[in-house]
Amino acid sequence: MRRVVSFLIIIILFASQSIAKEGMWVPSLLNKFVAKDMRQMGMRLTADEIYSINHSSLKDAVAIFGGGCTAELVSDQGLLLTNHHCGYSTIQSHSTVENDYLTDGFWAGSKEEELANPGLEVTFLVRIEDVTDEVLKGVEKDMSEKERKALVKEHIDSVENEAVKDTRYKAVTKPFYYGNEYYMFIYEDYKDVRLVGAPPSSIGKFGRDTDNWMWPRHTGDFSVFRVYADENNEPAEYSEDNVPYNPKQHMKISLSGYEKGDFTFVFGYPGSTQQFLPASAIKMKTEKIFPARIDLRTQVLDIMEKYMENNDKIKLQYAAKYAGVSNSWKKWQGINLGIDRINAIEKKKKLQQNFNDWVAQKSSRQQKYGSLYDEFDDIYSKITPYRKARAYFIETIYNIELVRFARNFQKLVKLSKKEDPDQEKIDEEIEKLRKQSKNFFEDYHMPIDREVTAALLKSLYQHLEFDLQPDLMQEIIKEYESDFEEYAHELFEDSFLSSRQEVKDFLDGYKTRKHRKIEKDPVVKLSNGLYEHYRDNISPVSSQYDRKLDSLQRIYVRGLKAFQPDKRFYPDANFTLRVTYGQVKGYEPKDAVDYEYQTTLEGVMEKNRKGKRDYRIKDKLKDLYKEKNYGKYANEDGSMPVCFIASNHTSGGNSGSPVLNANGHLIGINFDRNWEGTMSDLMYNPSLCRNITVDIRYVLFIMDKFADADHLVDEMTIVE
Ligand code: ARG
Ligand code: GLU
Repeated sequence: MRRVVSFLIIIILFASQSIAKEGMWVPSLLNKFVAKDMRQMGMRLTADEIYSINHSSLKDAVAIFGGGCTAELVSDQGLLLTNHHCGYSTIQSHSTVENDYLTDGFWAGSKEEELANPGLEVTFLVRIEDVTDEVLKGVEKDMSEKERKALVKEHIDSVENEAVKDTRYKAVTKPFYYGNEYYMFIYEDYKDVRLVGAPPSSIGKFGRDTDNWMWPRHTGDFSVFRVYADENNEPAEYSEDNVPYNPKQHMKISLSGYEKGDFTFVFGYPGSTQQFLPASAIKMKTEKIFPARIDLRTQVLDIMEKYMENNDKIKLQYAAKYAGVSNSWKKWQGINLGIDRINAIEKKKKLQQNFNDWVAQKSSRQQKYGSLYDEFDDIYSKITPYRKARAYFIETIYNIELVRFARNFQKLVKLSKKEDPDQEKIDEEIEKLRKQSKNFFEDYHMPIDREVTAALLKSLYQHLEFDLQPDLMQEIIKEYESDFEEYAHELFEDSFLSSRQEVKDFLDGYKTRKHRKIEKDPVVKLSNGLYEHYRDNISPVSSQYDRKLDSLQRIYVRGLKAFQPDKRFYPDANFTLRVTYGQVKGYEPKDAVDYEYQTTLEGVMEKNRKGKRDYRIKDKLKDLYKEKNYGKYANEDGSMPVCFIASNHTSGGNSGSPVLNANGHLIGINFDRNWEGTMSDLMYNPSLCRNITVDIRYVLFIMDKFADADHLVDEMTIVE
């Protein structure tokens, strides 16, 4: 009997451990779906303490930062934490050669020294409402996708107007489960957000692109801001008279650390995941789309690197651009490897087989779902060339810097061609272009762009079906006998846009009739040629298929839910607030290798000793390390924690998200995922997928000991 019992216990333990804790849950639905499970894993909060509309809750301390990241309040004076890479462009905007805050860091000594950032906003969630019934009222099964869309939009508009009438709030309604449900999010924007502090890039971006998406990681990826409000504690545009925002709630900080297996949860804004795709879609992405985009970006990165290698000026000019291009490039490669490694396509096919067997049992099911996969396959085979073309056009337009720059001049042409041109508006536009041009040429190295142009257009010509190519391709082929280098050479020679001086002269002496010079410019023609071809010939066809796919996906998700009535389905990420939970945990990246869950300052020094540029650090950090001057921030064994990983299911947009322990206390700031787990955007795997967090103790140690900004630490609420 004892043997049986212990056997059962083992089974139960094993079963509860192997349950995939995947998913990103809507905070207002925690009780319905996961609160019990979270508590079983160790959480000591109620769902109501995480999200409530009746009293203040943790959600009041979480914000959207700058439209693409997450941030959290950590004091009753509006102090806000996010990632260094989320604050990067703001930090850069305050940097000059004399005061290079990216390189040296920045710390405001007092509130007066905090730096204003026009245009930067943080957004707090007021409440979430299920508006499915209102939005889908009168929507019939046999409606065309177009009719459905129109009706849905009409309903959303009226629900939103009603909700925010006479308030300063804004409403955003989004489809969930491919439009089977709709939720409305009521938000409040704060527009006076000031920069308080940032570590030097040698800490905030330690390891640069070499370590990006990688574990073991040693990056202190954080920056510090402060939210300001008017005298009534309400949002206001920047003003000297504004005062620090006093929030309903801020995160309390734990310095006690964590151990293997400890419960953690992440509260933030994941951007997009696609867990419900059929096998044919995964095949298209991993076999056609990602490889095309990876190949194009490899060419761009190789060209940049060649010029950056031996030239410090170019190295600086192109550092941010290189990072931008390489971030997704590296992620896509990780996704492809991960999809392959976990046999994702086979797993999808197996699921589809089981689903079909279930469908075959009843004729009513057959009617609804019988032809789903055939229809998916059919549409995916039709849409693939267009999605591939889309990839080529996006990458080409995005990566040829001058093509993108040329698009800025469109508005000037439009204003100038008006029958009765408005001189004031034109002057304004010229002023804007002057600024844009100044910024553009500061970080522009023409030979790189010229080589990129030749390489990308050549690839487009070689790899895209003939009838999807833009007309201008034929001109290049005829006139230059397919010599793309020759073409690019002449293009950059003939265009006035490639010369800083010529652009300046042009803007200085601008008269409305000169808009012709813009229209005649060969780079503008190239830019328009690419753009218009995509808009007129690629996009309309693929959006027709997209509409059909939307409708199929909606039916499919409904079918999957009926097929697995006991499974908890989480909605795909759509940049709305979510809770995801998991455990502190290492993983096995490859055969015979085991990764621990925590890194320490020891590892920073190890990497630094390699002498590589990506791992340079300031002497001050070395000194603190030698003296072991870690204060109250060290691990129990005396080492200094830097980063840790856990099995929380996160995605792009979760950067800056608070990582919390079982008591809801802040233990770190989320900033990345492990490379072997990036396929979680399409299929999560519990033994491989990890989120990467910078330990809050490292953040505080850097503020306190490295930057002597202990007044900021004093502002926070630290629990023992
Ligand atoms: N991979 C992280 C994310 O997707 C960090 C990117 C910024 N860092 C970099 N080295 N490019 O945003
Ligand atoms: N660095 C990513 C971001 O900016 C987070 C990493 C990810 O999970 O994709 O959101």
